[in-house]
Amino acid sequence: MPFPLDRPRRLRRTPQLRRLVRETRLRPEDLIHPAFVREEVDEPVAIAAMPGQFQESHDSLVRAVDDAVRLGIGAVILFGIPATKDAQGSQAWADHGVVQTAIRRLRHEHGDACVVIADCCLDEYTDHGHCGVLREDGSVDNDATIELYARTAVSQAAAGADIIAPSGMMDGQVAAIREALDEAGFEETAILAYSAKYATVMYGPFRSAADSAPRHGDRRSYQMDVANSREAMRETLLDIEEGADMVMVKPALTALDIVSRVRDQTDLPLAAYCVSGEYAMLEAGAAAGAFDRRAAVLETLTAIRRAGADLVLTYHARDVARWLAEEA
Ligand code: PBG
Repeated sequence: MPFPLDRPRRLRRTPQLRRLVRETRLRPEDLIHPAFVREEVDEPVAIAAMPGQFQESHDSLVRAVDDAVRLGIGAVILFGIPATKDAQGSQAWADHGVVQTAIRRLRHEHGDACVVIADCCLDEYTDHGHCGVLREDGSVDNDATIELYARTAVSQAAAGADIIAPSGMMDGQVAAIREALDEAGFEETAILAYSAKYATVMYGPFRSAADSAPRHGDRRSYQMDVANSREAMRETLLDIEEGADMVMVKPALTALDIVSRVRDQTDLPLAAYCVSGEYAMLEAGAAAGAFDRRAAVLETLTAIRRAGADLVLTYHARDVARWLAEEA
């Protein structure tokens, strides 16, 4: 009977040894907290499809972000829920729109202590729910849409956003936003491009939270086909050429292979978005007793980091930061 010479188990013998050789670490500063801010509400409104998450009022948003800052979380990304919607999504670039007001408020309260990312898209603001403006035949007009993204980005930068995150998957959106920001004097405002964003059922809870489900059709003419991998590389390289400062893969759990491939393609900071449906799956599994909630969330986020993501957008950010503080 030959004995094994190489014994990897030597390094797994105690928790201390395992900690010593751990390759991937989760830290609060790697996490980005997605927050919904809703116009014309005084109290946070619970989101039924995302247990534990809320549509924040302007006041409760400040408290939630206060919490995130104290926990050491890296950044917040803001999604607005306006009181009124129209065909163009004009509240997206309104000077006193829901997100612009929130950004100014956070800047005022927290200065630079909190990195503020503004999601830049139209679906929460259009009455038809698509991420762009429509032609007469109902299709999304790419070039008309990116002009509106550029206006939105400038208004968000003017309000004080550190980073603009275009999520609409229109061609040329990063270049259009970069040019508009530079022209308006916001050369220092960065762009986090949702580069490889798939058309997935996993956005369902977000759409009910933001009331942004398309009223007709679907998003498959702009978001990517789940079956494609090489196309994700093409999208990412285009965004980098167009001037993205950071890139993102979305969703995370069903796209870990894409996270890994993008990691190999770029040295830019890489984010992965563990989306609303992935959050809901973890919560439902834990509630059904399938696994321990805390262990499942920590394992999942560690796997996303292991695949190559520097940063993880997760609705569990504050929970995780609290658990990490308890362990330390
Ligand atoms: C679109 C946008 C969506 C999400 C973030 N930005 C929804 C969509 O594309 O339908 C989804 C995030 C999530 O599911 O957590 N602006």
